[in-house]
Amino acid sequence: MTTMARFFIGHDLNGIEKVTQDSGELALLARGGGTEVMIQKINSDRTFSIYPSDQSDVMEFFFVLEGNITTIVNGEEKHIKKGNYFYVYDLHEVLTFNTKSKATLLYISSLPMFYLLSNQIRAMTKIVEQVEGKDYYTHNHSSRVQNYSIKIAEKLHLRPEKIDDIAWAGILHDIGKINIPDEILNKPGRLTPEEFAIIKTHPSEGKRMIEGTLLEYLSEIIAQHHERLDGSGYPQGLKGDNITLGARIIAVADSFDAMTTDRPYKKAMHPRDAITELKSLAGIQFDPKVVAALEEILKEEDKL
Ligand SMILES: [Fe+2]
Ligand SMILES: [Fe+2]
Repeated sequence: MTTMARFFIGHDLNGIEKVTQDSGELALLARGGGTEVMIQKINSDRTFSIYPSDQSDVMEFFFVLEGNITTIVNGEEKHIKKGNYFYVYDLHEVLTFNTKSKATLLYISSLPMFYLLSNQIRAMTKIVEQVEGKDYYTHNHSSRVQNYSIKIAEKLHLRPEKIDDIAWAGILHDIGKINIPDEILNKPGRLTPEEFAIIKTHPSEGKRMIEGTLLEYLSEIIAQHHERLDGSGYPQGLKGDNITLGARIIAVADSFDAMTTDRPYKKAMHPRDAITELKSLAGIQFDPKVVAALEEILKEEDKL
């Protein structure tokens, strides 16, 4: 028997999180495997549209729980009422609907629509901006780590959902630095053991911050991004495969970015020297196949 990773009974249509739009509201009931199940409430006399996606292979399904809706298809008005359903697959043009009364739709999408509208996710990315704003030298650090991490994950042929997880974790990995005093983050010299102990709280703090949000599934990667293969990392001193692959990827991308950007205490290294250093630590601190993937990417980009 396989264990059920998640079982949840909902008692109302407010769901996991709800966003209010000017036309009504959208609540997320469930998400997983790239699919989202939502409840969309639309006020009377409103138009709403379904748009083609830049990704092919997108399916959007709607079941009318309440209300009357009309749409024009090939010049002909179609009426859709309670109990009807409709769906679009691989849509090429915008499809517009009008509500003749207040409508409630069960909305299932194979693309994470809600995720992108979520207040929680917007709040988290705001915190990333604040963290980076505290420290001039880490400006855009998160998006660079995200970019390297995506390229490495692609090079390692990970599944698209995994690559997506790693992309979000790349952006959010240092979110737990939000309450670390600026003087410690920006200190030009060596940190005292007390100061370093404070820095070391950020992976667990980041994990704590995303718990209970839509991003909770990233908590392992965020919590482990400073772990090292030989167990010399923090906060848990995990070894080898006990460190999740996403965290092993972020660790390499993070260190590479730290080495190749100017810091208060040292100048940026050339990518060639940074890769040499990462390779000397492969199998000790860093996952050798992750380092090899980064090296290959930099070669392809003529950066070595
Ligand atoms: Fe970090
Ligand atoms: Fe970082």
